[in-house]
Amino acid sequence: MLEKKIEKALNQQANAELWSAYLYLSMSYDMDDKGYEGMASWFAQQAKEEFEHATRFMKFIGEMGGKVTLMPIESVRQEWSSPKDAFEDTLMHEQIVTKKIHALMDMAIELKDYPTQSMLKWFVDEQVEEEDTARKIIEILKKIESSSAGLYALDKQLGKREE
Ligand code: FEO
Repeated sequence: MLEKKIEKALNQQANAELWSAYLYLSMSYDMDDKGYEGMASWFAQQAKEEFEHATRFMKFIGEMGGKVTLMPIESVRQEWSSPKDAFEDTLMHEQIVTKKIHALMDMAIELKDYPTQSMLKWFVDEQVEEEDTARKIIEILKKIESSSAGLYALDKQLGKREE
């Protein structure tokens, strides 16, 4: 059985993951507006992944006999000045998510809640990957920022992302 304190925190995290999906969807449409079809597709995949993260939290709450509470999703930014701006925002956002996951892990450890610790382990690893991916794309963008051929090539490459 989940303690109320952690049930609430897990529901908040599910909401944060849904907000992430909303954020990446917004980036996807903004990149599409700016003519970066591949990046639009990359961010759409990212949004899908965030929805799956939210579902993972909600499924776990249910399995533990808790109550899933769906809360309102706050509005998100609508525009980014460039792909680099969007990916820098992505990294900043993922760093915030990492802190939230670590805070949840701290709470689960404090409560001696072993099932929640085990579930969160997947997210701890996932965040390492999420930050690393964003960082690598930013590094490429820094090098090719003023080259339209470079941006075109990166856009094509990112468009190949599969689920
Ligand atoms: Fe669900 Fe990108 O963190």
